[in-house]
Amino acid sequence: MGKEEGSATEAEGESERKGVERFSISVEPELVREFDSLLEKLGQNRSKAIQQAMRLFLSEHYWAEGEGECAGAVVVVYDHSARLAEEELTDLQHDFRDAINSVLHIHVDERNCLEIIAVRGRIGRVKGLIESLEKGKGVKQIKHTIVSIK
Ligand code: NI
Repeated sequence: MGKEEGSATEAEGESERKGVERFSISVEPELVREFDSLLEKLGQNRSKAIQQAMRLFLSEHYWAEGEGECAGAVVVVYDHSARLAEEELTDLQHDFRDAINSVLHIHVDERNCLEIIAVRGRIGRVKGLIESLEKGKGVKQIKHTIVSIK
């Protein structure tokens, strides 16, 4: 039992903490072994790892559904020598100013520019910005790291 529920010390500590709910789940033994072995390497406990996984699961669901608010960074690499690339990118950023907090521009080399666009706003708007950037002239790469905010 101790193995399934975590150590006695951990269990006591948690039930003492306010606002914590304990629950048990059924998991394939193979998955538990793999999970525990990684946690041991990372020096993390199950509760913290499961909470992180739950938050990630929720965040990905909200992102996929386009529900709620989010914040993060969108990184765009584009060729500034492409015709109208800069004008288009600026127009686009003005259109999405409600979702953009700030922009950091880096001149990577003779032709390429990198912009880090800090975003904060409705998920739908941030997704709209990313989709529009993908169609942008001279745009070579886009990556984003976004978290949902409740
Ligand atoms: Ni530049």
